[in-house]
Amino acid sequence: MGSELARAVQRGEAGPARIIGLFDEYVPGRSALAKELGLNQEPAPAEVDSVSELIALPGLDLVVECASQAAVIAHAEAVLSAGKSMLVMSSGALISPGFMQTVLAAAEASGASIYVPSGAVGGIDALRASKALLEEVTIVSTKRPIALSGAPGFAEWENVEITGPTVIFEGSATEAVGLFPANVNVAATVSMAGIGPDATKVRIVADPDSPGNVHEIYAVSRAGKFSLRFENMPHETNPKTSFLAVLAAIETLRSICEPGLRIGT
Ligand SMILES: NC(=O)c1ccc[n+]([C@@H]2O[C@H](COP(=O)([O-])OP(=O)(O)OC[C@H]3O[C@@H](n4cnc5c(N)ncnc54)[C@H](O)[C@@H]3O)[C@@H](O)[C@H]2O)c1
Repeated sequence: MGSELARAVQRGEAGPARIIGLFDEYVPGRSALAKELGLNQEPAPAEVDSVSELIALPGLDLVVECASQAAVIAHAEAVLSAGKSMLVMSSGALISPGFMQTVLAAAEASGASIYVPSGAVGGIDALRASKALLEEVTIVSTKRPIALSGAPGFAEWENVEITGPTVIFEGSATEAVGLFPANVNVAATVSMAGIGPDATKVRIVADPDSPGNVHEIYAVSRAGKFSLRFENMPHETNPKTSFLAVLAAIETLRSICEPGLRIGT
């Protein structure tokens, strides 16, 4: 996702945003990307060995995280304390117990902002707007078993042949986050926009015939009921990631960097 976002920035899709530097603990990956981006940009983006080097780069205003929940937990406080805003894709990290208070305190002290794109779903605007009136929010995520493989919450299913839609997990977003770290970013984002991670209900379904990663959001509020369904295509260069999540990250970056009309924010 980070590579696609960087390419989109270079194509001008995020308005005046410019890439100052790149960090990834996987050195061959980041070197290849730095080389590619350097062909189209003068001066070329710096390739750095740590987040502390990254936030020290002159001209850097915002750190875009497309890495992992562990990366957010390890680095967000330092980034925000240094007065650099953050765009967070691994939003599940933000609902880890106690972590939201830590990052909000760091952001408030320095004046930095934390941006969480809508990711692989929509309707975040409606959840935010009706937050005070929400009575129930449920998110159902249906994926092929291979997309859940490796998650701690899928361990007992790894060697089971799943032949039809099978409920793997039912609980709160808070409970889901540690069990399905790579799969609950959408639930985390929905929960932060709406009634919070303890009250947001999450159902994870494995279905070998799922057309892709499918997310359904059902909300009941005193302002009305709404239901939304997203049948996501995988991104062509990264099948683990939904195409829409990449587009949402680009659009959030554009709306941060480009002055002018704001729709639905
Ligand atoms: N919010 C959403 O809707 C949404 C949708 C899709 C993916 N995501 C999340 O976004 C993140 C990126 O997704 P992706 O598909 O690009 O993942 P990916 O695994 O393809 O790429 C992640 C990259 O980050 C690097 N990385 C991981 N942890 C790191 C660390 N601690 N320090 C430095 N580098 C680190 C890895 O080496 C890798 O190159 C994941 O956490 C994923 O779960 C969120």
